[in-house]
Amino acid sequence: MPGLHHIRQIDDAMSFETKQIKEKALKEGVPIIKDEGLAFLLNWIKEKGCKDILELGTAVGYSAIQMAGLDEDIHIDTLEKVKEMYDQAIRNIAEEGLSGQIDVHFGAIEDYATDRMYDLIFVDAAKAQYGRYMEQFLPNLKKDGAMIFDNTVFHGLIWDVENIGSRNLRNLVRKIIKFREFVHNDDRFDIMMFDNIGDGILVLTWRKSGT
Ligand SMILES: C[S@@+](CC[C@H](N)C(=O)[O-])C[C@H]1O[C@@H](n2cnc3c(N)ncnc32)[C@H](O)[C@@H]1O
Repeated sequence: MPGLHHIRQIDDAMSFETKQIKEKALKEGVPIIKDEGLAFLLNWIKEKGCKDILELGTAVGYSAIQMAGLDEDIHIDTLEKVKEMYDQAIRNIAEEGLSGQIDVHFGAIEDYATDRMYDLIFVDAAKAQYGRYMEQFLPNLKKDGAMIFDNTVFHGLIWDVENIGSRNLRNLVRKIIKFREFVHNDDRFDIMMFDNIGDGILVLTWRKSGT
């Protein structure tokens, strides 16, 4: 589990340009992965030796840049449907010299199809669609691969859902709760939930037969 030490390491290892991307994103309210979640993700990639990565939700390319920066053999496909975000991601990735490792695909996740198999599928787009994204991309998950979902406690709201004033937000949080329950009870998978890391991280792997 990443502690302060790992998070400090991430900041220390970050180039001046990457820090600028992070600061600009935070200033402009672009939702990017929290430091703790990122530390977890990067640790996972290093420990498991992930090389082929699919990311759902690019925003301005911050997490993709961090992942690709770990090893020049890592390749990332990342999907983004908002043109301004896509354009900014392309610029940021080029400035970091990582265009050869990261392919940003413009369009809706729902419309994306590929035969490529991945060691890691990082899911960081519309939270209400997590179940749908999971089913859509399970065929692309290698036998020893993992799907990692961010924001699975949604600012702690999953524990206080009845007190959420906005109906839309309540419905969204209920969908996250339902997703958590669904994958927990699905015997295709082994699940790890790290509710106290960042905004909540859920890791799904294929259940090995006999367990
Ligand atoms: C939380 S942000 C991604 C942050 C990024 N992974 C990072 O940490 O740097 C989610 C992004 O997913 C995009 N998104 C949401 N729904 C999408 C969809 N259906 N298809 C493609 N992109 C989508 C949003 O436009 C937004 O930029």
